[in-house]
Amino acid sequence: MQNIYLEVRDFILITLGLAIYAMAYTCFILPYQITTGGVAGIAAIVYYATGIEVQVTYLLINAAFLIAAIKVLGWKFCLKTIYGVLMLTFLLWLFQRLIIQDDGSLPQVLGNESFMACVIGALLEGIALSFCFLNNGSTGGTDIIAAIVNKYKNMSLGVVLMICDVIIISSCYFVFDDLDTVHRVQKVVFGFSALIISSFTLDYVINRQRQSVQFMIFSRNYSKIADALNATGRGVTVLNGEGWYTKTERKVLVCLVKKRFSVEIFRLIKQIDPYAFLSMANVQGVYGEGFDQMKVKKMSKKKTIVFATNNAHKLEEVRAMLGEKYDIRSLDDIGCRSYIPETGASFQENALQKAQFVKKYYGFDCFADDSGLEVAALNGAPGILSARYASEEGHDSAANNAKLLREMEGKTDRRADFRTVIAFIEGDTTTYFEGRVDGEILTELHGDGGFGYDPLFVPEGCEQTFAEMTQEEKNAISHRGRAVAKFVEFLKSRE
Ligand code: IMP
Repeated sequence: MQNIYLEVRDFILITLGLAIYAMAYTCFILPYQITTGGVAGIAAIVYYATGIEVQVTYLLINAAFLIAAIKVLGWKFCLKTIYGVLMLTFLLWLFQRLIIQDDGSLPQVLGNESFMACVIGALLEGIALSFCFLNNGSTGGTDIIAAIVNKYKNMSLGVVLMICDVIIISSCYFVFDDLDTVHRVQKVVFGFSALIISSFTLDYVINRQRQSVQFMIFSRNYSKIADALNATGRGVTVLNGEGWYTKTERKVLVCLVKKRFSVEIFRLIKQIDPYAFLSMANVQGVYGEGFDQMKVKKMSKKKTIVFATNNAHKLEEVRAMLGEKYDIRSLDDIGCRSYIPETGASFQENALQKAQFVKKYYGFDCFADDSGLEVAALNGAPGILSARYASEEGHDSAANNAKLLREMEGKTDRRADFRTVIAFIEGDTTTYFEGRVDGEILTELHGDGGFGYDPLFVPEGCEQTFAEMTQEEKNAISHRGRAVAKFVEFLKSRE
């Protein structure tokens, strides 16, 4: 019930604000050919140049913004803005109908006093807009863009909007080409004056309404005062203090209220304890129940984990699986250009060595993998030497494959497997994940995709070598794909 009352009240006050705005705009701004900023400014320029009534342009531009906003923010969020736009369109039309003259022009209600019209119009506009904003309403335009951008980014639109306003107002110089230069400049100056006055008024009214004060109350009757404050629906905190001169315990009440209620608070305290000692201080902002909401986005909860590799394929694969929840960084990303030794006697030891290096010198939680090919007829060779099978420098796939084919000449047992071990160091704990794929070594190279021994290895149950498969097909069954899947599963199971 209370909610319905508040909503209805909001709509009534927004409508009142819109009516004041439409009246100010039609009586003081348009007849004096003043161009303000934002969508209303664009609508005014179109009106001065073509005679198309302002509400038409205003509605068209806002309709486009609103369609985008509804898509991004949803209907509910936009309801008051839709109401604001439609109601203002109607009121602009209505006020023009009320005062329009026979020749179709709008009367200059203040005669030749253009500057006075500018000041009064802008002041009323500022007051009207603060009515709308204070009651959660909006007149569309740039508010819509701000709300959309705000959804994605925590950035301030202020500078962009200011530049737009400057362009809009300045461009009215070119509309009045029948006037001499001085009068065209005058229109621009009036436009900027109106913008400054209305923005200042808006800020002033809103800040006054939002201004809160903090009372600190020192009184022997503190409990009665606290009860009385509570009875008016305000929160009070009692602090324990000590009067240093008397060395006696004193209670101090702290109470935060909107400034406009301060007279009420003074009255209440004076009634209970006319001798109470109290201070009242303006506070910059009060956030929490009954006051403003903290308008900052939560810090990203993404946890940073380093993948000790610079292999773009491996990174892409893991980021695709974990990117939403984890910030996966490569060695390059953390500025690690050092050679990381791999001198272990197993995949497990090598993976651990790499992860430990990062943890020790860079401090990040880290995972590293080590893989290789194990051929049954060669007693598990090349194993941990897979990269350096044919030469010490390593990673010469053509030479490695040639050597493997030579070693396998005449061998009938062609069974082999690829193995990957991932070592994950998180704080003081190390966890391992292993992936394996069994298969066979061919007698000649097939395919030109993949890397390393891919053209010679056909996984069990497949017709093609890894080198003949797409990246996705290989990832789905590969040793690395399986180890990464277990790692991902492990991380997800803890969320
Ligand atoms: P790494 O530990 O992942 O860098 O792998 C060491 C070596 O094993 C590579 O240089 C390749 O020769 C071989 N290797 C590892 N995984 C694969 C794979 O998926 N296909 C082909 N060769 C691989």
